[in-house]
Amino acid sequence: MPRLKNQVAFVTGAGRGIGQAMALAFAEEGAIVGVADIDPATTRSTVSQIEQNAGTARAFPIDVSKREDVLRSVAELASEFGRLDIVANNAIVFRNEPVSEVRPETIERMISVGLTSLFWAAQAALLHMDPERGGVIINNTSPVAELGIPRASVYSAIKGGVSSLTRALAVEFGPRRIRVNAVCPSSVPTPGARELNKNDEAVYEVRRRRTPLGRLASAEDIASAAVFLASSEASFITSVVLRVDGGAVVYGGA
Ligand SMILES: NC(=O)c1ccc[n+]([C@@H]2O[C@H](COP(=O)([O-])OP(=O)(O)OC[C@H]3O[C@@H](n4cnc5c(N)ncnc54)[C@H](O)[C@@H]3O)[C@@H](O)[C@H]2O)c1
Repeated sequence: MPRLKNQVAFVTGAGRGIGQAMALAFAEEGAIVGVADIDPATTRSTVSQIEQNAGTARAFPIDVSKREDVLRSVAELASEFGRLDIVANNAIVFRNEPVSEVRPETIERMISVGLTSLFWAAQAALLHMDPERGGVIINNTSPVAELGIPRASVYSAIKGGVSSLTRALAVEFGPRRIRVNAVCPSSVPTPGARELNKNDEAVYEVRRRRTPLGRLASAEDIASAAVFLASSEASFITSVVLRVDGGAVVYGGA
């Protein structure tokens, strides 16, 4: 029995990488998926992949930093299928640079996509998740919420915010039966992350070596954790930041 049968999910940044893997995994488990991404071509491609696999999906080529885009898309999805059960917040703009060089427009863009958009998604969830049945919000945070990485200050600040907001929303939305959790992946060689790391295999080799389970995470590893958090198996789990990192974060070796 598929674990998310007939549920309706909205996934941001679902055109590629981890968001796409989540959209495909939710659909594989029987959910109808709203695929939201700023890139119309990849948005359509994720929808096609779901449809080729006999699933149901709708494309929302939107900018998730815009409140009206998020509210309108989720309203359309919920009204067509009569419910909203899962919201997964994945969209991100990656950029690393020294603090001395960070420009106002970079901060504004990165934060509005990576953090502010979670408020719009939360408002949409409140509007469309059934008060009795409730629902689930799954955020995507990162170990950089806790660890310092040179040149990643804006990204760290965003992910610190995402982890904190996960806990704050879990408390505020608990009485509405909306569970709020986050996945916290270690390094996943997605298109966005590879661009950020200039496709440098040496970077990934070091990360592999520092991962007790001996490999990098795949987007599917993270999507599996998201399916678990979305499913009824996690029905009493809220406010959790679930590390999906093969033990990388606790590695204390050389
Ligand atoms: N890849 C990793 O190593 C890693 C590790 C930890 C956490 N994460 C988190 O996982 C999530 C997904 O990362 P990824 O590696 O798959 O990234 P990615 O760059 O491969 O994919 C991000 C997607 O977000 C979309 N997007 C960007 N701006 C948008 C906007 N304004 N509106 C709608 N969509 C927008 C992009 O078009 C892209 O499809 C992010 O939240 C990231 O912080 C990634």
